[in-house]
Amino acid sequence: MEKLLEIKHLVKKYGQGHLESKAVDHLSLEVYPGEFVMIMGASGSGKTSLLHLIAGIDVPDEGTICYHQTTDFGHMGETARTLFRRKNIGIVFQQQCLIPDLTVYENIMLPVMLGGSRAEKAAMKDRIPALCQQFGLEEHIRKYPSQLSGGQQQRIAILRAVVNKPPLLLCDEPTGSLNAAQSEAVMELLTRLHQEGQTTILVTHDRKVAARGQRVVYIADGQAVGHLTFGEDAPMERRKRELADFLQQRGW
Ligand SMILES: Nc1ncnc2c1ncn2[C@@H]1O[C@H](COP(=O)(O)OP(=O)(O)O)[C@@H](O)[C@H]1O
Ligand SMILES: [Mg+2]
Repeated sequence: MEKLLEIKHLVKKYGQGHLESKAVDHLSLEVYPGEFVMIMGASGSGKTSLLHLIAGIDVPDEGTICYHQTTDFGHMGETARTLFRRKNIGIVFQQQCLIPDLTVYENIMLPVMLGGSRAEKAAMKDRIPALCQQFGLEEHIRKYPSQLSGGQQQRIAILRAVVNKPPLLLCDEPTGSLNAAQSEAVMELLTRLHQEGQTTILVTHDRKVAARGQRVVYIADGQAVGHLTFGEDAPMERRKRELADFLQQRGW
């Protein structure tokens, strides 16, 4: 199968001279279509820096980030990266980042308003209500973000990220500011999207969250130092045990 994403020897430095440090340090990673990849690592290990490079929000100092073996972010200008990202990558952050003055419908519509063709905009009249209904959020469609819980807002932010059907979804600690029940609902949504084929890379500190992926990449000091692949039909309890052992071996 053709790789969706191929990262080779990626380096991202911050600071200069004796203050220079590598947030991402010769990291390589491959992602195939349909995968659900979890990224774990201590605070400051470079997870967000890596996600920003994958999203083309930031550019690497060394190494390559290739989509479909052709598009290389390292050698593209900012405009080309922005256009590529709009079409191909959905992004969800820890904070929900919904626009308070827009309704749920308008918030989800936003990516299409920014870059969509007239036909794509027209298609949203059906697509957005259908998407909200599919994930049990239809009663909120005319509400404003302040009328929703943090977990509901995050689920809306996820629908906004996938409304364009991007080949890749990136999530940076999407449950990081949610309670257990809200976190569960968000993971339920992401799991269903993955079951429908959504390729997803998700950064998390939470083992319960990470155990829902297909594999875990462990990052320390900007390097990928461990890989764990769960058995395909492994029950949740076994996944959690395997993950606990894996993390313990890496001093978690
Ligand atoms: N804009 C920046 N300027 C300088 N240093 C940064 C910047 N962003 C991140 N860093 C540093 O890079 C390292 C990795 O940070 P980050 O990618 O945010 O880690 P994580 O998401 O794993 O907590 C940290 O040491 C952090 O202080
Ligand atoms: Mg981070």
